[in-house]
Amino acid sequence: MVLSTGYNKTRTAVFISGTGSNLKSLIKFSKTSISPISINFVISNNSKAKGLNYAKIYKIKKKVFSFKNKKKSEIKLLSILKKNNINMICLAGFMKILSKNFIKKFKGKILNIHPSLLPKYKGLNTHLRVLNNKEKYSGCTVHFVNARLDSGKVILQKKVKISKNETEASLAKKILAQEHKLYPKAILKVFNL
Ligand code: GAR
Repeated sequence: MVLSTGYNKTRTAVFISGTGSNLKSLIKFSKTSISPISINFVISNNSKAKGLNYAKIYKIKKKVFSFKNKKKSEIKLLSILKKNNINMICLAGFMKILSKNFIKKFKGKILNIHPSLLPKYKGLNTHLRVLNNKEKYSGCTVHFVNARLDSGKVILQKKVKISKNETEASLAKKILAQEHKLYPKAILKVFNL
């Protein structure tokens, strides 16, 4: 067995706003020997994000930026990421929109996960809109981040079937379980693994 040491892995920051279940799954994946990334920083716009606990548990550096003044927050954020040699960013339930300028600095190196089959249902309240439209399927998408919301090149998608009595909560839960598998798979694909 090859032990994963964290050396030579691409140093990655995960950006969160809430529960952080995708962060947890990415941390677990990053510790496997097949992972091309290590998680070295957790960024949140929300000091109360539950997901920040995972940074504590797994002894990963973390920092909160309010993003109230986006320009100022992003300047500080870029400097921290640079100082920590971060080369890749995974957005995982991060509910702020990064500026064009920020995205340019990490061109082709920012991934996002979104709980719909993009290009359908960009933006917020995805599950409710899907159910209101009586869709038969929904799912999740990992994509590259570009300057337009939820519009970058798709890396991988997973489709899920909507049940008869599906609710917003049950659909969210079903899709989230798939997200936890899809994000690591998408990362392997980005690295041609
Ligand atoms: C996930 O379902 C993710 O796809 C979604 O927020 C949830 C975060 O859950 N992201 C978006 O809606 C982004 N537009 P988590 O905090 O448990 O990973």
